[in-house]
Amino acid sequence: MRSIDPKKLSIAELQQILVGSIAPRPIALVSTIDAKGIANLAPYSFFNVFSSNPPLLIFSSNRRGNDNTTKDTLCNVSLNSEVVINVVTVDIVRQATLASINYPSDVSEFEKAGFTTLESDIVKPFRVKESPVQFECKVRMVYHLGSGPGAGNLILCDIKKIHLAESIFNEKNQIEPDKIRLIGRLGRAFYTQTGGDSLFRIVQPVGQIGIGFDNLPDQIKYSHILSGNDLAALASVEEIKTLSDPDERVIRIVKDNHLKKAEKIKQIHQLAKEALSNGNIAKAWDILLSGNYI
Ligand SMILES: Cc1cc2nc3c(=O)[nH]c(=O)nc-3n(C[C@H](O)[C@H](O)[C@H](O)COP(=O)(O)O)c2cc1C
Repeated sequence: MRSIDPKKLSIAELQQILVGSIAPRPIALVSTIDAKGIANLAPYSFFNVFSSNPPLLIFSSNRRGNDNTTKDTLCNVSLNSEVVINVVTVDIVRQATLASINYPSDVSEFEKAGFTTLESDIVKPFRVKESPVQFECKVRMVYHLGSGPGAGNLILCDIKKIHLAESIFNEKNQIEPDKIRLIGRLGRAFYTQTGGDSLFRIVQPVGQIGIGFDNLPDQIKYSHILSGNDLAALASVEEIKTLSDPDERVIRIVKDNHLKKAEKIKQIHQLAKEALSNGNIAKAWDILLSGNYI
């Protein structure tokens, strides 16, 4: 384990540790406008949603690491307190990175990166037509976090209007990850896309009080086969139910006189693991309880 005092690292080294370990980060494609009405666009991955009531997004426009200058986005929001935050998807990620180039202030990244401007309803900055979700925001506050290179400027944005493309919804009117295909940024030049094989579900109903690791029987808790994730799934149930349906495969393992006890436990835990990988927690418990009398 490396234990580091952040003050002992250069800003560049520290930045790589931060962005390499706090990831993936969503990307905001931030649209602002300057005093002359020139549209500005830039991607920001120090970005997230922080409140639903009031609806609020935040992002940070950092001072440049090389020359400690500030960015056009910060200048524009300080001027007129308006932004449109557009989400970045698989289809537009390369264009979004092109918009990160430090073009002169009087050049619009909309044009350079090939994005189409859409008039907003409430604020002056344009929406990005190619992005499927666009948030019109008023800037509530800019909080300067420091004055040296790399210092963040936290920008709190109150959402005033949300525009959503029909294409991202499923038939139940929910935003479908496989349809919206959002992008995440990691360290260095790495990105990740959501959708397909990268998606999985964890159902942990709010209000369901799981038994927790401490109530797992020791033989399960200290298994060499079941992982922390497997144990967490087992520990998510409200009670350990009594065995209702003994598993035939486990009975065979238990009755097999050629197998040593440790091997029997291993095989039973492997079967339970398989059930868990299929999302079947009840079956996993049946398997484990069927082996109870080893
Ligand atoms: C995917 C991506 C994410 C970025 N995230 C940030 C960020 O969170 N904060 C930041 O200050 N710069 C970030 N940058 C760099 C800015 O986009 C870049 O400095 C840009 O030129 C700023 O434009 P502006 O001067 O028009 O605001 C990011 C760049 C990329 C490609």
